[in-house]
Amino acid sequence: RTVYLNGEYVPEEEAKISVFDRGFLFADAVYEVTAVVNGKLVDFAGHFARLARSCRELGLSLTLSENDLREIHQRLIAENDLTEGGIYLQLTRGNSGDRDFHFPPSQTPTTLVLFTQSRAVVDHPAASKGIRVVTCPDIRWQRRDIKTVQLLAPCLAKAWAEANGADDAFLVEDGFITEGSSCNCYIVTADKTIVTRPLSNNILHGITRKALLRLGEEHGITFEERLFTPEEARRASEVFISSATTFVWPVVSVDGQQIGDGKAGEITKLLRSIYLEMVE
Ligand code: PDD
Repeated sequence: RTVYLNGEYVPEEEAKISVFDRGFLFADAVYEVTAVVNGKLVDFAGHFARLARSCRELGLSLTLSENDLREIHQRLIAENDLTEGGIYLQLTRGNSGDRDFHFPPSQTPTTLVLFTQSRAVVDHPAASKGIRVVTCPDIRWQRRDIKTVQLLAPCLAKAWAEANGADDAFLVEDGFITEGSSCNCYIVTADKTIVTRPLSNNILHGITRKALLRLGEEHGITFEERLFTPEEARRASEVFISSATTFVWPVVSVDGQQIGDGKAGEITKLLRSIYLEMVE
């Protein structure tokens, strides 16, 4: 694979970063994952806007424009013949040549890395088969709206899910589901309303979520933004998740409790097909 590092396109094994990089030492870094379908970026403008916001919130300087970054993404797609999968971008606060908690001087160069990941998105088996989730406490920090690389808590949640015979975890805080370990969560009630948690600092403002709310409205699908509990999820007609890596995946069990008939629900399938229509 050819990867991007600070202005250069290099073979992955030649891309080297300092051991003092603050992304490595302090998770002082932000990231984005943009989906690629048919060699094209999905909702790049949305991902750029969120990246710019994450940088603003952390005082990280983003020197490249939306167009500069789009071109880097497109060049990597071309260099690696990527037709389907995603592009990972990470921007760190660089390094000051030692380990120091204090931010380095503002003119210190940042570290920007991008790489491609080839994988099935449109025909991923989980999109039809669904996934099993378990709930666990949300132990993350209080600015989950900023897309930082502090991902140990979600890694622990996924490991815990796996150890409990599930594919992923839904995180719970004060008795309510916040989001999945790396996705936004939805339940469908008996009257076919889709319920999802409102935006706040407690969840990542998903780019896929935003598109689904817009597409839902255009297609007469009712969304309600409110908190919901694990118990409501276990009793829901349908449960599903969204992210740039999954788009929309059905959830077929929550904490071992089967959802509906244990297969992908109608609204979930409809929403996924509407989303795919937009990206393909
Ligand atoms: N994760 N919530 C969390 C905690 C996430 O990590 C993600 C995405 C989402 C969905 O956001 P979006 O629709 O913009 O991808 C919600 C990415 C895919 C990842 O970490 O790989």
